[in-house]
Amino acid sequence: ADGIPDDFPLKGKKILVTAGPTQEALDPVRYFSNHSSGKMGYAIACAASRTGAEVTLVTGPTQLEAPQGVSVVQVNSARDMYEAVIKRFEAADVVVKAAAVADYRPETVSGQKIKKGDGPLLVKMVRNPDILTEIGARKTHQLLVGFAAETENLEENAQRKLEKKRLDLLVANRAEDGFGKDTNKVTFFFAGGRRQAFEQMPKRRVAEEICRAIAGLLETSVL
Ligand code: CTP
Ligand code: CA
Repeated sequence: ADGIPDDFPLKGKKILVTAGPTQEALDPVRYFSNHSSGKMGYAIACAASRTGAEVTLVTGPTQLEAPQGVSVVQVNSARDMYEAVIKRFEAADVVVKAAAVADYRPETVSGQKIKKGDGPLLVKMVRNPDILTEIGARKTHQLLVGFAAETENLEENAQRKLEKKRLDLLVANRAEDGFGKDTNKVTFFFAGGRRQAFEQMPKRRVAEEICRAIAGLLETSVL
């Protein structure tokens, strides 16, 4: 089905997928987050699992059901996600980082609910670890796939992220084409300069194309 061949090279491969937003606590009842729905990462986990891969999905909070046959690890903050990914990185063949990881978190988390007082409230935000950059620096045999949703300078930003994070494939889209939607319009930027542009299509189809691209990369890497 879906044009995926039976002898698909993802069979038996350990694939680690991250999805969804992260939540960065401010106090016991409040957090900073973003509009990521998790749909793209879940679709990739599904597609990879259907083609016989052994999939672990590390996910921030979403409204989505756990995909069948996929081992799910729930996390909240970027630092939780960082730990969950680092722990499983060595054993992975492929890492797909579809999560919208918060770049910043509040420097301190108040133990008590913050009272409104007289305001304004100043919150100092500090940098979270960049998970993909970290595993890019550590990678040995793993294939790395990253994402970039941009509102401007798509090509330039995509190319820079591909190189800086030492990715094998970067999936780029304009933020308005994918965020929160069931469809996306993406361009693949491969290490080495090859590019592949797609029309707007369901995320399920985008996920299949990503799996197809990963399969191609796995095949060429063993030749
Ligand atoms: N990413 C990550 N850890 C972070 C931030 C991002 O692993 N702390 C990953 C994302 O999962 C995505 C890729 O890096 O696959 C690109 O994320 P993006 O937000 O587009 O890029 P940044 O490097 O964070 O740069 P900026 O937000 O400034 O554009
Ligand atoms: Ca970011």
